[in-house]
Amino acid sequence: MARGSIIGVLMIVLIGLLMWTGRVGAQPETIVLEHKDVFKELQRPAVKFNHEVHAGAYPDCVECHHVYETKGGKKVNVWSGEGQPCSECHKIEDSGKIPALREAFHENCTGCHRKLAQGGKKTGPVMCGECHVWPKAAK
Ligand code: HEC
Ligand code: HEC
Ligand code: HEC
Ligand code: HEC
Repeated sequence: MARGSIIGVLMIVLIGLLMWTGRVGAQPETIVLEHKDVFKELQRPAVKFNHEVHAGAYPDCVECHHVYETKGGKKVNVWSGEGQPCSECHKIEDSGKIPALREAFHENCTGCHRKLAQGGKKTGPVMCGECHVWPKAAK
């Protein structure tokens, strides 16, 4: 290989690495999901969500993050890495095809956990009190 192309390859690897660490490094470890902007008074305790564990398990991120566009009559996810609150689009009630915030979370979180459990895979909780942990039950 010519010297120029070796340097070229190294540059690409380096840029790739910087982009990757930049993305991963920007995420918080645990997010407290407490959307008072939409729910006002919460009926249940806020949900502690370990973002790091989930982002590690799903490094393509689009299991949860999306910005949908219609292309050629098809729904396409064009999410490009921004950390938008789900509540920016999902509100207290359904709006057309956009499910309400509570249903969006339950479909996403509990839906995935249940599907994995059915496949006998390592998974997360499906019981209300395991996500909405009341102070007394917490360690
Ligand atoms: C896998 C985790 C998970 C499970 C299991 C789960 N939830 Fe939730 N739920 C969430 C998340 C996340 C939110 C969004 C909370 C927020 O951002 O304020 C939410 C929101 C809610 C809200 C609206 C916010 C509030 O507190 O008023 C209610 C009510 C609720 N859940 C009730 C339940 C009930 C009842 C069950 C059991 C049938 C249940 N949840 C199971 C994760 C879960
Ligand atoms: C299992 C679901 C899930 C996966 C997988 C996931 N995220 Fe998230 N992410 C969330 C949720 C939920 C939030 C909080 C949104 C909110 O506040 O409404 C969030 C928040 C964020 C934020 C904003 C953080 C903040 O504190 O405001 C960034 C940035 C982000 N995610 C990037 C990523 C990247 C990059 C990946 C892939 C490497 C990823 N996420 C994978 C669910 C996920
Ligand atoms: C930029 C706006 C936007 C944001 C931010 C957003 N959503 Fe959505 N979401 C939508 C739209 C639009 C749909 C309906 C798509 C359709 O079927 O046409 C949708 C649909 C969904 C659905 C139904 C299944 C599907 O994918 O069609 C779930 C579940 C969901 N969103 C969960 C979430 C969660 C969890 C977050 C935060 C991590 C989030 N959404 C952030 C716009 C958004
Ligand atoms: C695409 C699949 C998927 C989605 C979506 C998902 N999870 Fe999970 N979750 C998992 C898997 C897999 C594990 C087991 C990870 C492990 O233990 O290594 C897990 C574990 C957990 C755990 C127990 C481990 C811990 O982090 O303390 C909690 C709590 C949890 N998830 C909450 C949530 C909440 C809240 C949401 C929605 C905001 C969510 N999950 C969305 C796949 C998912």
